[in-house]
Amino acid sequence: MAKTSATRSYASPSPLPEEARQRVATALNERLADGLDLWTQVKVAHWNIKGPYFAGLHPLFETFAVDLAERNDEIAERAVTLGGLAYGTARHVARESRIAEYPQETTRDLEHVALLADRFDTYLEGVRRSRGVAEEARDIDTVDLLTVTISQFEKHTWFLRASLER
Ligand SMILES: [Fe+2]
Repeated sequence: MAKTSATRSYASPSPLPEEARQRVATALNERLADGLDLWTQVKVAHWNIKGPYFAGLHPLFETFAVDLAERNDEIAERAVTLGGLAYGTARHVARESRIAEYPQETTRDLEHVALLADRFDTYLEGVRRSRGVAEEARDIDTVDLLTVTISQFEKHTWFLRASLER
């Protein structure tokens, strides 16, 4: 019998049924595409930002990029732990990401803050939806992993929204 792409690589140590593991691995790959896309966007903001808030925001954006790189790695490795594969090339990500493209001509500091805050909201919507898939599949370890991602990115979004307050 032909094996599916989500389970062909190796036997998972997870006791969850194959169908559940496959569903969760697919949901994790959707979040990996969004997260890798968002990582490039945060770096673009980190590089191009100009204005009076540069000194605070340039390093703040880097902390987001470092955190997101770690979350992407955890999400990819969880998909593979569940017996799936991790899809993460630039071309794959460009096709699959749900995050709106970043306007790369932007330079003003607070414009970057608003653009990133909106994109973090979209990212969070996706992570919450994938956590729902893991909940349904009774995969509490993936639920935990995505809960960490959500609490981290809700905090990052707060930092951005607070910077926009007048
Ligand atoms: Fe840098």
